Amino acid sequence: MALQFTHLHFPLLFLIITICLCISSTFAVKPQNFYPFFKVDADGIIHRYQHIKLVPPSNNPKTGVQSKDVTILPQKDVSARLYLPKISRKNQKFPLLFYIHGGGFCTQSAFSSMYDSYLHKLTCEANVIIVSIDYRLAPEHLIPACYDDSWAVMNWAAQGTEPWLKIHANFSRVFLAGDSAGANIAHNLMVRASEESHFVASLVGMALIDPYFGNGKPDSLWTYLCPKSNGINDSRFNPAAHRSMLSELKCSKILVCTAGKDFLRDRAWTYYETLKKSGWKGELGIKEIEGEGHVFHLFNQTSEKAKVLMKSIVHFLA
Ligand SMILES: *[C@@H]1O[C@H](CO)[C@@H](O)[C@H](O)[C@H]1NC(C)=O
Ligand SMILES: *[C@@H]1O[C@H](CO)[C@@H](O)[C@H](O)[C@H]1NC(C)=O
Ligand SMILES: *[C@@H]1O[C@H](CO)[C@@H](O)[C@H](O)[C@H]1NC(C)=O
Repeated sequence: MALQFTHLHFPLLFLIITICLCISSTFAVKPQNFYPFFKVDADGIIHRYQHIKLVPPSNNPKTGVQSKDVTILPQKDVSARLYLPKISRKNQKFPLLFYIHGGGFCTQSAFSSMYDSYLHKLTCEANVIIVSIDYRLAPEHLIPACYDDSWAVMNWAAQGTEPWLKIHANFSRVFLAGDSAGANIAHNLMVRASEESHFVASLVGMALIDPYFGNGKPDSLWTYLCPKSNGINDSRFNPAAHRSMLSELKCSKILVCTAGKDFLRDRAWTYYETLKKSGWKGELGIKEIEGEGHVFHLFNQTSEKAKVLMKSIVHFLA
């Protein structure tokens, strides 16, 4: 009887143990730390390091700038904050700028006080109507969600049904801009528009501020946030490794901005140099602000050097 028990049940026991091990290895997560953005603990829970202060849209009587929030894809929680400059005549038209915020693809918001105050200033100084895109963040929403969401917002705007855009946006004069990961997204939107020949009649140019691109070396953040990518030289992450793609961008001008102490400075210069050598036919510029770090202009928006950078961007959009 005892012998029979062993024979019958040992394989069953073995099977049960194997199943248990499989289940536990499925649910246990390797802790990961992506300071200063977020960490993932062994239970798979994501903890963000930064607390992002959000502010509501507003009407500023001093500058005449108005802003409002629009939900675009309610089921995905994709939205945008729109900024309208001071209107000095009926049905006045302004260039349309799509702005994509930075934050390593995983933090920040179009509604944060930092971006709200920066884009308020930009609206006022450049006299452009801005659609500041609030895309879904990784790692909850892995890349390419950010690209797809931003593309969806551009398509939504192009329908021209939103009242501010309908009356005040010049759809023949459209720009893209972003900082850090937002500059990466802006570049990828331009690639998609160029490949699909969509919006290309209206896209004038893009400004990439302190862009977060790869440089051909391992990058744990990108690899974690885009697990299905073609590695670190994926064209979305390291466009400089895809020169012919750069040569095909269908816009007439591009401005790359960087800062002397930006830890991503080499990426900005490589993008610029590669684009220059690619045979791309457009007006290309680079602006480097000496002695400052990554996105210094957002952290200290009133500094003299932030004003110098603002002036370059305003000039580019003029
Ligand atoms: C819209 O932009 C186009 C292209 O830059 C320009 O030729 C046109 O004058 C603009 N329209 C208005 C109403 O400002
Ligand atoms: C990525 O590209 C760099 C050059 O930019 C090259 O040195 C590196 O070997 C490439 N890595 C992979 C994994 O393809
Ligand atoms: C911002 O810049 C101004 C002028 O350059 C400087 O005086 C101030 O200390 C800076 N503030 C911060 C928080 O870095």
